[in-house]
Amino acid sequence: MRRGLPWRPVADQLLVRTGGMARRQAWRTGSTRRIIGAVARYLPGLSLIGLLSSDDLWRHERTLAHHACIILRSMDPTSAGATRDTQPMATNDSARSYWATWHDAYDDPESDLSQRLIAVQHRLTDAIDQAPPGAIRVISACAGQGHDVIGVLRSHPRKSEVHALLVESDDDNVRVARARIAAAGIPGVDVRQADAGNTGTYRDAIPADVLMFCGIFGNVSDEDVRRTVYNASRLCTPQATVLWTRHRRDPDRTDQIRSWFAEVGYEELAFDSPGPDRFALGTLRLAAPPLAYRSDLRLFTFRT
Ligand SMILES: C[S@@+](CC[C@H](N)C(=O)[O-])C[C@H]1O[C@@H](n2cnc3c(N)ncnc32)[C@H](O)[C@@H]1O
Repeated sequence: MRRGLPWRPVADQLLVRTGGMARRQAWRTGSTRRIIGAVARYLPGLSLIGLLSSDDLWRHERTLAHHACIILRSMDPTSAGATRDTQPMATNDSARSYWATWHDAYDDPESDLSQRLIAVQHRLTDAIDQAPPGAIRVISACAGQGHDVIGVLRSHPRKSEVHALLVESDDDNVRVARARIAAAGIPGVDVRQADAGNTGTYRDAIPADVLMFCGIFGNVSDEDVRRTVYNASRLCTPQATVLWTRHRRDPDRTDQIRSWFAEVGYEELAFDSPGPDRFALGTLRLAAPPLAYRSDLRLFTFRT
């Protein structure tokens, strides 16, 4: 039977568990409650469109708890986790790069990007949960500030088993991601400032059990997307999970991308999208034998 989501008890429990005057004060003033309320408002929407099923209620709760936790940490200036989940470290705004300011949309829990983040974290959590016991290798190409990977790992029970490589080229984003990793206490996560479009960059981090291409396919040519899809398995273990995102604005290329993945032996585990013009997230399992690794391939080049 479907039951209401226990937002209030989950949030209360978090407050009790995390403690701290600043958090309690924030709760009293109602700001934390308002932010959690905003998160809560769109989760039922995701449920309605089939992103989160009623059978998966425990997952709803965990996703909310996760985000409530992130919000609470970021609101508490005394917390070690308060290295600004969503704000880059640079103080001079005009000096911040385009790709650093791009991440500011994560500050707004109603933004498409924040909703996409929930979906990505949900699928990444599943992939880590379902990985066989032992080390789990995660690679995130063009990782930005690492909201997805860091947000999941900071509280995941298997975080000590995960070795994650975040590949990012932008100075500001690399700095922010490293600071957030240090604050989250997840030494198994490394940020490499390098070109994620070059397969040689991943030489010592492969094969990946989870490979992430989030925020790439909308910024490169169709030919680059196709080449990346066709060669992704060179970076993967057999049965690896691959996550990819792409916006669905005109021209919506998501059907084409799905069929390219199917062509080269991936089984689609999920396709999450709130609808046309919004984001799409594909979750796949590599069902064919991976291609051999090559260190000399160019997968993609960003257009901006
Ligand atoms: C659209 S953002 C996505 C960030 C992150 N994956 C996310 O979803 O939050 C794209 C990121 O790719 C980075 N980037 C662009 N070209 C790159 C390259 N050749 N190698 C590594 N990172 C790159 C940008 O600096 C930016 O942070």
